[in-house]
Amino acid sequence: MQKLQFTNKDQMPILGLGTWKSEPGEVGAAVREAIRIGYRHIDCAAIYGNEAEIGVVLEELIQSGEVRREELWITSKLWNNAHGKDQVPLALKKTLKDLRLDYLDLYLIHWPVATKTVFPSKGEDFLSHDKRPLSETWAGMEACVEKKLTRHIGVSNFNIANLETISRSATIKPEMNQIELQPLLAQKSLCEFCRQQNIHLTAYSPLGSPDRPEVMKNPDEPSLLANETVAAVAKAHNCSTAQVLIRWAIERGTAVIPKSVNPVRLAENLAVADMTLTSDDMAEMAKLDVGFRYVDGKFWTLEGSPYTLDGLWG
Ligand code: A2P
Repeated sequence: MQKLQFTNKDQMPILGLGTWKSEPGEVGAAVREAIRIGYRHIDCAAIYGNEAEIGVVLEELIQSGEVRREELWITSKLWNNAHGKDQVPLALKKTLKDLRLDYLDLYLIHWPVATKTVFPSKGEDFLSHDKRPLSETWAGMEACVEKKLTRHIGVSNFNIANLETISRSATIKPEMNQIELQPLLAQKSLCEFCRQQNIHLTAYSPLGSPDRPEVMKNPDEPSLLANETVAAVAKAHNCSTAQVLIRWAIERGTAVIPKSVNPVRLAENLAVADMTLTSDDMAEMAKLDVGFRYVDGKFWTLEGSPYTLDGLWG
């Protein structure tokens, strides 16, 4: 399996297991099966509401010797209602308790959005960047590295301006930006900027996230798994469209975290590590880039919110 190397030589397996939308009651079995067949990178987040169940499985597999902690790469994310220098270590300690771990490999600021409540329902539930500067939240992330609660820190859903904001006052530069990346949303300039700044990228929703809640979906949205160009590439390689989509991300040098709770699909997705796509395949898929987002961030722009889609995506 290919790995992404960090400046201290730590290596993150390029293909990980996504756990957003993996329900309590099924996520534990999915993580157990994933590790059994060879996944070594698990992508978690406090807001997914399933870290405690994942923790039970991690503890069991580590204690039984099925896997060593050092072989695993575990990522988690700070939720929006815990922005602020002092809150960050507390939120991370809760995640570590749930995951039954002493440290994370990577901790990310989930969104460049601060809120008073878990899910805001009105304008007053938000905190603007003036009230909760991203640089202060970043200082809290740096404190987590100093306390050895996490080996690496980064962000998610950050645009160039937000990355520049935290980098200006950072002692530790962000090492990862986890963003939506799939052929309809190739994000060329943001990817280029991150490469120049030595910031690795992780592609979320690589399959177009078909199981996300209905309220997050747009009527008439395109299906990535049924895309004709992707299907033609899949046919040429005698593989599935999901495999082409996952491999597309790896060919671009980004980590990728397809979610599955199904043993057959877990194996199918992992098998992508041994595939390749041709430059012609990549060129054909490059034509699909129309800037379409499955996770459009509209939920942060309720009336009265200080956040706008322009400010979010730049
Ligand atoms: P399931 O968990 O039942 O396998 P994303 O990673 O973009 O969020 O997409 C996750 C969705 O894609 C889930 O509905 C998941 O279903 C489905 N999925 C995962 N792997 C595959 C695959 N190889 N083929 C088809 N659908 C898949």
